Amino acid sequence: MYGILAHMNTWRAKAEAVSQSILIRSLSLLIVIMAALMLSSCRDEESSMPTYTVAMEATFPPYEFYQGTEIVGIDVDILNEIGRRNNVQFKLEDMAFDSIITAVQTGKVDLVASGLTVTEDRKRQVDFTRSYSGARQVIIVPEGSPIKGPEDLANVRVGVQHGSSGDTHVTEHICSNPERFTNGALAISAMSAGKLDAVVLDNAPAENHVAGSRGLIILPTPVVEEKYAMALQKGNTELLNMINASLDAMEADGTLAAIIEKRMRENTPEMNQEADTAFGRLMDDFHVDFVKNERWRYLAEGLLVTVEIALTAAAMGIMLGFLIAVVRSTADLTGRLKVADMFCRLYLTVVRGTPVVVQLLIIYFVIFGSVDISKVLVAIVAFGLNSAAYVAEIIRSGIMSVDRGQMEAGRSLGLGYGTTMRSVILPQAFKNVLPALGNEFIVLLKETSICGYIALQDLTKGGDIIRSQTYDAFLPLLMVALIYLSMVILLSHLLKKLELRLKKNER
Ligand code: ARG
Repeated sequence: MYGILAHMNTWRAKAEAVSQSILIRSLSLLIVIMAALMLSSCRDEESSMPTYTVAMEATFPPYEFYQGTEIVGIDVDILNEIGRRNNVQFKLEDMAFDSIITAVQTGKVDLVASGLTVTEDRKRQVDFTRSYSGARQVIIVPEGSPIKGPEDLANVRVGVQHGSSGDTHVTEHICSNPERFTNGALAISAMSAGKLDAVVLDNAPAENHVAGSRGLIILPTPVVEEKYAMALQKGNTELLNMINASLDAMEADGTLAAIIEKRMRENTPEMNQEADTAFGRLMDDFHVDFVKNERWRYLAEGLLVTVEIALTAAAMGIMLGFLIAVVRSTADLTGRLKVADMFCRLYLTVVRGTPVVVQLLIIYFVIFGSVDISKVLVAIVAFGLNSAAYVAEIIRSGIMSVDRGQMEAGRSLGLGYGTTMRSVILPQAFKNVLPALGNEFIVLLKETSICGYIALQDLTKGGDIIRSQTYDAFLPLLMVALIYLSMVILLSHLLKKLELRLKKNER
């Protein structure tokens, strides 16, 4: 009896040592990968000029919009001019409009220049520069609509850009529950598809959108008059003074007016000739969506980002998940590693109990809030940490499903706990959970489509940019869906091959 107990104790001690060495090895591997990624993300920012980051949502012509893969517009021209006059440079970050105030408030970016309306609510969160342009919220409706002015909006379907001043105004004064879209262009395509009765939007992008889609008009009575200014983190007076001084000077010497006048004049996207047949129209749309201005590049470049994030996050998820699974099952099997097990369980509860998009935003805005870190890295960390929780439970279920007799058999052959785990239990466990793991990777790959929330241009966001430029919802969405589908089919195929190989080896 005493002998067995003593044996069990050395067994436990060994188990613990093995798990700890696995823990240390995996952690150091992860640290090395992270460091490499961080270094590679810092490299492209070497420049002697002081650089400020600027948040904008770049589907807002003529203030900020894509031309090819470059962001241009009034705000960009003004920034460039300010940069030239002060020997500084501005780095643009395209992000979701409802994130940009948070981004500047938390110091994630230095400035917002995004056709941003000065409002009392926003003044409580950020400081505004002097205003550089006037604007108004206007109503866009289909031609022949019975809606004639703001008073007719109370009981109809109204679309707005989520988080915009138009959104706030409509919600507070016109109809309490407008439909909120990530940008004005998407609201317009929803209206063109018959899903909305009216869209409330800033006048300048409204004019652009109306010129770019058929059968829409802008009502003459505006909803509200506004002023645009840039926004900074409260107390950032140095940058504030610099911008204000430059804006004053640019107003005095006419540069400001010239920039705005030029961009307003160009503010009409060219229309395509309407083809006669349905097929002809489809081919035209295809040309405009993917060929013209090399728009296919948004998808190709987005695809690379998606694959990069998904693969690295999957690797991280596997390593970390494996580690957690080993700690958890060692605790279950031997009663040791109690503290580590507690942490792991806490981790699983938190990660599995909150939506991944919230985790992504917390990691980006809170945890790495004041660090200038590559967004791809942030996404990898977020998805890797998230996936690890699911992988851990999948692998643990695999370990637990292996007959207890296997461990005893290995042990009675004189193998240590670690060796039995490594060469007897884990291979069997892995084979059992392969389908579930494959499923997890498929989910992970598709889940990365929320990267757009932190302004990463992944595949989905690439499609969004095309939609915002061409006002065609159908083909870009279909194409994005087809690309994801092909990747998943390819992945399933590879996994099936792996499964077959493992089965063959068994015989
Ligand atoms: N002027 C509106 C606001 O401040 C809308 C601005 C939207 N800007 C943009 N770049 N998408 O709320």
